[in-house]
Amino acid sequence: MKFFVDTAVVDEIKELNDLGLVDGVTTNPSLILKSGRDIIEVTKEICSLVDGPVSAEVAATDYETIMKEAAVIAKIADNICIKLPLTLDGLKACKALTSDGHKTNVTLCFSANQALLAAKAGATYISPFIGRLDDMAIDGLDLIAEIRQIYDNYDYDTQILAASIRTVNHVKEAALIGADVSTVPPSTLKALVKHPLTDKGLEAFLADWAKTGQTIG
Ligand code: E4P
Repeated sequence: MKFFVDTAVVDEIKELNDLGLVDGVTTNPSLILKSGRDIIEVTKEICSLVDGPVSAEVAATDYETIMKEAAVIAKIADNICIKLPLTLDGLKACKALTSDGHKTNVTLCFSANQALLAAKAGATYISPFIGRLDDMAIDGLDLIAEIRQIYDNYDYDTQILAASIRTVNHVKEAALIGADVSTVPPSTLKALVKHPLTDKGLEAFLADWAKTGQTIG
């Protein structure tokens, strides 16, 4: 499974990238707001830091303006991925942009039928939002499983990018189901390493090691 980091904060991306954990980055208008940075400027900086795809989202909702904004975003860097809303105009733009050779990420997916449409529009990635469905007492992971089955039934190339991840369990379950990518907030990505038995075991090993009086090297 690939890990994308779900943030527009450069220092957070740098830290995780240095750990070798970042296969790509996703941003959205809310994350740009949180970063306090200009979208073009910060996206350019992120694209220069990571080798993988960096999703930047259009803000327009009509086809013509989406295409104008997409042209601006596409110029930022070679590893840019244009993020589009899951609407009829967004899907039309997706078809046109993928046909032109751009990477696309269709976002705000909450149903299997929406994901089917995105695959038919040639999306590089579909972003089903797990956490926001969970917030409504609907199991977001069921949606990942449905999309996996549909895409496998028809051999669609569109990759499932599990989004709106809130817990380490979301990451594990999305991996078990076979999502291609999880986009994970930095704190959740770092929390994946944690286990109390690892901490306890390490503490005991270090205590015993100190008693040996040895050093390595
Ligand atoms: C990423 O592409 C999505 O925009 C993001 O994961 C949404 O997460 P949220 O539901 O926590 O805002």
